[in-house]
Amino acid sequence: MTEPRHIPVLLERCIELLAPAVTAPGAILVDGTLGLGGHAEAFLTRFPELRVVGIDRDPTALALSAERLASFGTRVVLVQATYDQIIEVLAGAGLDAPQGVLLDLGVSSMQVDEVDRGFSYSQDAPLDMRMDSTSALTAERILADYSEDELRRVFHEYGEEKLAGRYARRIVTEREHEHLRTSRQLVDLIAAATPAALQRSGHPAKRVFQALRIEVNQELAILERAIPHALRALAPGGRMVVMSYQSLEDRIVKNSFAAATRSTAPRGLPVELPEHRAKFRLLLRGAELADAAEIAANPRAASVRLRAVERLVGVA
Ligand SMILES: C[S@@+](CC[C@H](N)C(=O)[O-])C[C@H]1O[C@@H](n2cnc3c(N)ncnc32)[C@H](O)[C@@H]1O
Repeated sequence: MTEPRHIPVLLERCIELLAPAVTAPGAILVDGTLGLGGHAEAFLTRFPELRVVGIDRDPTALALSAERLASFGTRVVLVQATYDQIIEVLAGAGLDAPQGVLLDLGVSSMQVDEVDRGFSYSQDAPLDMRMDSTSALTAERILADYSEDELRRVFHEYGEEKLAGRYARRIVTEREHEHLRTSRQLVDLIAAATPAALQRSGHPAKRVFQALRIEVNQELAILERAIPHALRALAPGGRMVVMSYQSLEDRIVKNSFAAATRSTAPRGLPVELPEHRAKFRLLLRGAELADAAEIAANPRAASVRLRAVERLVGVA
């Protein structure tokens, strides 16, 4: 079995929230972010009749999970895809509407630990940042090809970086002399472009690295498409749990769930017509966080925000 380097976040809570939907014989859970299969393995063990469709865009993660989950045999179907393709993946596997969908967003510890993938600003590595190493766009290409305006937009929107314009300008000037290939070059450039007064408020490269990672992997655009698709796929009574690790993702989840759980009746209508009724209900008030004990055992849990919804039975 694969050494579990990635501790699944809020595992017991995910099981508790999805259990009412996935306990029935023949139930299907789509784990749209299979990673190293930590959550998937726990569900397969806890629910002996459950089948899991595991999706990940990273072929390395899928190969490691395939090994880890091999003993569950035909109860597991693994597919390399992005999670917005859930409907195509289910159709391709000849499976019905799932009773559960789980998304544990972001990168896995394995991806961060593989220095060559260039996710970390604290280690020198090629500026890659692809979760799927077969896709074309890398951080190096973005830094070489995007205009100053485009770079500013990426740093501003996806990194919420106040110095987005300053960093974009410096990159465009520097790349005339030297091609940016490594994380060390980028970290040094950002440090040099950061005014001394701001040098102390966290690592200056953190937000730029986050922004590049989001752009390379189109993370927010895919998530925005994925939630309506996953909700449409869910069986009546089915439940969906999403864990986000940064505010931009959590905002998308919050807004998508709010839209799905709201009546579409025009304001002022005295009675709600059946076709306007919300098809989903929120299972939690707001987002849930990890407790101090879990954060102490697994620092990755520190930023988690968990949200959950259920598809109502009898609302078409
Ligand atoms: C935080 S890890 C999941 C860890 C997993 N829950 C476990 O217990 O091992 C996130 C995984 O989602 C994958 N991923 C991220 N964005 C994706 C997307 N848009 N489509 C499919 N997989 C994605 C990453 O490649 C990574 O393996």
